[in-house]
Amino acid sequence: MQIAIDGPAGAGKSSVAREVARRLAFKCLDTGAMYRAVTLQALKKGIDLSNGKLLVELIRSCKLEVEYNDQEGTLIYLDGENVTEEIRSPLVNQNVSVVAKSSELRRELVLLQRELAEKSNGIVMEGRDIGTNVLVNADYKFFLTASPAERTRRRWLEMSAKGLDVSYEELYKEIALRDRIDQEREEAPLKIAPEALVIDTTPYTLEEVVEKVLSVIRKGKQKECGEEKVK
Ligand code: DC
Repeated sequence: MQIAIDGPAGAGKSSVAREVARRLAFKCLDTGAMYRAVTLQALKKGIDLSNGKLLVELIRSCKLEVEYNDQEGTLIYLDGENVTEEIRSPLVNQNVSVVAKSSELRRELVLLQRELAEKSNGIVMEGRDIGTNVLVNADYKFFLTASPAERTRRRWLEMSAKGLDVSYEELYKEIALRDRIDQEREEAPLKIAPEALVIDTTPYTLEEVVEKVLSVIRKGKQKECGEEKVK
């Protein structure tokens, strides 16, 4: 079974995907972590972040490993080094949307993502283009969103908890810019799949959103429901 969860930064995708996967004993894949890993490697090697060809060469020349476990979620290794924390740095945050614009790189990573889905018995995959591009035949598609202020607040809390000193205003602007780049790029932009169920998570706790997602899955195959909101 394949469950696709898409949405903008800070909408709660990662936490919801992990918890849903844990309860269903499925695998979970945070595809954003893969774009982040390429960004980190490109920054380290001083490669032009907008050169798709070089990005593909870079990813083919290094060993990118993606693992998953219930406790820690998606783990990323680059040439054997665990970079799961490093890919969340402010520098990667600021540059990842530009890297994710590259059509060449996207095609390369999408192949890997499909391969990982095929190898698993059940998977919850989250990102920006899962329901519209990576797993178009997913059994269930969800699009999580939240107000920009709430999404910034969540990211700010996350970063502050890690001891990172970030200004709320700067973060707000950065998220708005990333949203714009993700929505306006040519290849697989962030958009709602026609059959996806949209959940505005602004007023809800993690547990409430997880329950809403699971209740749809428990009811059976997702019906065409357009942009209907789950109440
Ligand atoms: O979910 P995240 O913040 O870790 O994603 C990092 C970036 O990667 C974000 O700018 C959008 C991009 N991304 C994408 O283009 N397609 C995906 N499937 C996942 C993430």
